[in-house]
Amino acid sequence: MKPVRLAAVALTTAALLLPLSAAPAAAGPHSGHQAAPHSNARFDRLRWAAPDDFLIGTAVAGGGHHLEQDYPDPFTSDRKYRRILAQQFSSVSPENQMKWEYIHPEQDRYDFGMADAIVDFAERNGQAVRGHTLLWHSQNPAWLEEGDFSEEELRAILHDHITTVVGRYAGRIQQWDVANEIFDDQGNLRTEDNIWIRELGPDVIADAFRWAHEADPEAELFFNDYNVEGINAKSDAYYDLIQDLLAQGVPVHGFSTQGHLSTRYGFPGDLEDNLRRFDELGLATAVTELDVRMDLPESGEPTEAQLEQQADYYQQALEACLAVEGCDSFTIWGFTDKYSWVPVFFEGEGSATVMTEDFVRKPAFHALRDTLKDARHERNPWGPWSPW
Ligand code: G3I
Repeated sequence: MKPVRLAAVALTTAALLLPLSAAPAAAGPHSGHQAAPHSNARFDRLRWAAPDDFLIGTAVAGGGHHLEQDYPDPFTSDRKYRRILAQQFSSVSPENQMKWEYIHPEQDRYDFGMADAIVDFAERNGQAVRGHTLLWHSQNPAWLEEGDFSEEELRAILHDHITTVVGRYAGRIQQWDVANEIFDDQGNLRTEDNIWIRELGPDVIADAFRWAHEADPEAELFFNDYNVEGINAKSDAYYDLIQDLLAQGVPVHGFSTQGHLSTRYGFPGDLEDNLRRFDELGLATAVTELDVRMDLPESGEPTEAQLEQQADYYQQALEACLAVEGCDSFTIWGFTDKYSWVPVFFEGEGSATVMTEDFVRKPAFHALRDTLKDARHERNPWGPWSPW
């Protein structure tokens, strides 16, 4: 059975993102509570430069590696950060705040504080939300990973979690990363480190999608992973699995590639082809966590040539997504180096985002903005808000 494509166009209209009373006449991700800037300043912002039916997103910094740094929680404490987050982006993804260890810290206790704050912020600013994530091998709480549960109990725990979390935000989350990183780079299911697959078998993946769909029939349900930009053993594994699931009528709606790239390696030139083959299965596609890290010189400052190369990677990734009809959500994994996860994980590497630690725009920012503007003009050259 061919899956129904949940048209992002429909899901990204302001009418769905906002309370009815708040939705202005001109629908689209550009029409939120946040007033559209007038004049040319409008197209200086990514969300306004983008085509009407295209979401440009970022991770919302908090939890995870931030807890080990000497700054307070970025999302709640950094006013400049929040302002740019609202001004520039039409979609947001909680970086850590919806992961199991944050939202379900004890077996009988959920903590929705941070997740609620992000969803409320997004609504106030006319932004879509990508939910991240429901079934993963990482960032699970100790009570779960170290607990002594029967198969029946584990299924009940996962069912309760998905029903509770997805149900809480029903109608307010555009896309959910239901299953995150379930294959290794060789295309083998993570049967050892993913507690769900290990204990309950691979069929639990289909159940996770079914339960999420029951809890929010409007949300687009995704498989999400890294190192699946190109056509390779890992993305092939997704391609095969998704076809099987669709044939069984499992509500899978999307495939997304994270896009944690490095200038150490060439740009994955087959990104567009890869997205397109999933598109041809009738799925939505998305880029969900793009960043482009680099080896920093001794000074710690990237050279101009490095920044240009980085901008080129950002641009190529965006162009690949724009070229595929159903790829209408493009998210970067943070917009400022101040809060990037990269230097914490990769010694000697950094400068992976589109703004410096002081929020100064890099060539990558301009490349994204100009590429979005071009696409907006191309899709609707005579539109009232054509940037040219
Ligand atoms: O597990 C330890 C824990 O034992 C220790 O007590 C605690 C001390 O603060 O640290 C814990 O690990 C941290 C982990 O988050 C759990 O909160 C890591 O040090 C920290 O680096 C980690 O960071 C997050 C990472 O996911 C975890 O995988 C990052 O903030 C977050 O940006 C990153 O995001 C992931 C996406 O979710 C999925 N795709 C890849 C992407 C980048 O890794």
